[in-house]
Amino acid sequence: MKISVVGTGYVGLVTGVSLSEIGHTVTCIDIDQAKIETLKKGISPIYEPGLEKMMLDNMDENRLFFTTDFLKGFKNPDVIYIAVGTPENEDGSANLAFVEQVALDIAHYVNKDTIVVTKSTVPVGTNHKIKQIIDFHLKMDVKIEVVSNPEFLKEGSAIRDSFQGDRIVIGADSDEASTIIEEINKPFGVPVYKTDIRSAEMIKYASNAFLATKISFINEISNICERVGANVEEVATGMGLDKRIGNQFLNAGIGYGGSCFPKDTKALIQIAGNVHYDFELLKGVVEVNKKQQRLILDKLHDLFMSIHGKKVAVLGLAFKPDTDDMREAASIVVTEYLVENGAEVVAWDPVAAHNAKHILREEIKYVDAIEEALGGSDVVLILTEWNQVKNLDPKVFLLMNDPIVIDGRNCFKLGEIQKYNVEYHSVGRPS
Ligand code: UGA
Repeated sequence: MKISVVGTGYVGLVTGVSLSEIGHTVTCIDIDQAKIETLKKGISPIYEPGLEKMMLDNMDENRLFFTTDFLKGFKNPDVIYIAVGTPENEDGSANLAFVEQVALDIAHYVNKDTIVVTKSTVPVGTNHKIKQIIDFHLKMDVKIEVVSNPEFLKEGSAIRDSFQGDRIVIGADSDEASTIIEEINKPFGVPVYKTDIRSAEMIKYASNAFLATKISFINEISNICERVGANVEEVATGMGLDKRIGNQFLNAGIGYGGSCFPKDTKALIQIAGNVHYDFELLKGVVEVNKKQQRLILDKLHDLFMSIHGKKVAVLGLAFKPDTDDMREAASIVVTEYLVENGAEVVAWDPVAAHNAKHILREEIKYVDAIEEALGGSDVVLILTEWNQVKNLDPKVFLLMNDPIVIDGRNCFKLGEIQKYNVEYHSVGRPS
């Protein structure tokens, strides 16, 4: 199949590269000239394990192309994927300006019957709106079908998720269109669930909102555990043995971040509000997450009257490991507070530091080695569970003045770290 993918952000690029890997001829289109030039050189603008190599392999095989030329991108394909961003409006709703612009572009350039597949996360009803826009502005007498095909990839494991995902959801009005999209995806070997368009759109939001709910739930449980002397890891393991609950996404910590959960939970609250439904539970999930992102600061406050002049080492800045993504990372809230209150902040992150420099306060010092961050510091805050942190020999904390570790991601086994002369505080576990 000849496929065009519009948008070379995280979703679009991973979609384009993995579709080319299973044998389709894919052209990725973006208006960002600089990004397309970078991609043409075989360089991935995002850090995603395995992505760049797969991209290069498929470029070499002449199955993967990058262009800013819409005419070229829209005239030939059998299928066009929309994978542009749907950023958050001020009121939390999804901004559809980019999606609508692509619909207009498709209407302008397309010259044969085409299936338009929406990968972007869009509110219920958007695919029908896209079809209306295209049909209204079409220049040629051709037939357009729209299909909702939300993505469920996780940053940091997107390539693995593409080939070993739990399901591919295809929402369509016509059997013919959904069968073509099913065929396109067949080589992934991932189970397909076919449904109507609106339900497919809703599945995406409901799934992310449910996962966010699981995280906020276990975080609330962890806060209670701390007060009653229970261990949240034990509790989560015991809960997860019940298959109805499942053992995933029950890791307590300093809340969820990233480009999806924060944005999609708020958007779903808006979607519900638009039909006069108050999604109280999800509002609670969002509020709990805000509170949880500040948990590490509450712990810091309990230990130090003032952090003014203290040297604080911060390990991990990305919203989770294996990504350089800083969006909605707890490190934003935490470091802002530290700098604002006069602490000397020394930060380490193996891949997100270059992004962090543009986002976090300029007073922060960045170092390449964990030891350098720890040396002479008064307290260390662990914000991201990078393997480099999890695999540390706890002895390294003895480089600190009077070692105090506040671990927001429960990276260390309680018994082990307590063998050393280190004051260790974690989330939902006895100190
Ligand atoms: C999430 C979903 O997991 C994907 O299925 C979905 O496709 C994607 O959003 C999207 O909508 O594009 P992602 O944001 O990449 O993926 O990251 P996750 O691995 O889900 O982690 C999100 C946040 O939750 C991270 O900050 C992580 O630290 C936190 N988290 C996750 C926890 O605090 N506890 C857990 O048990 C799991």
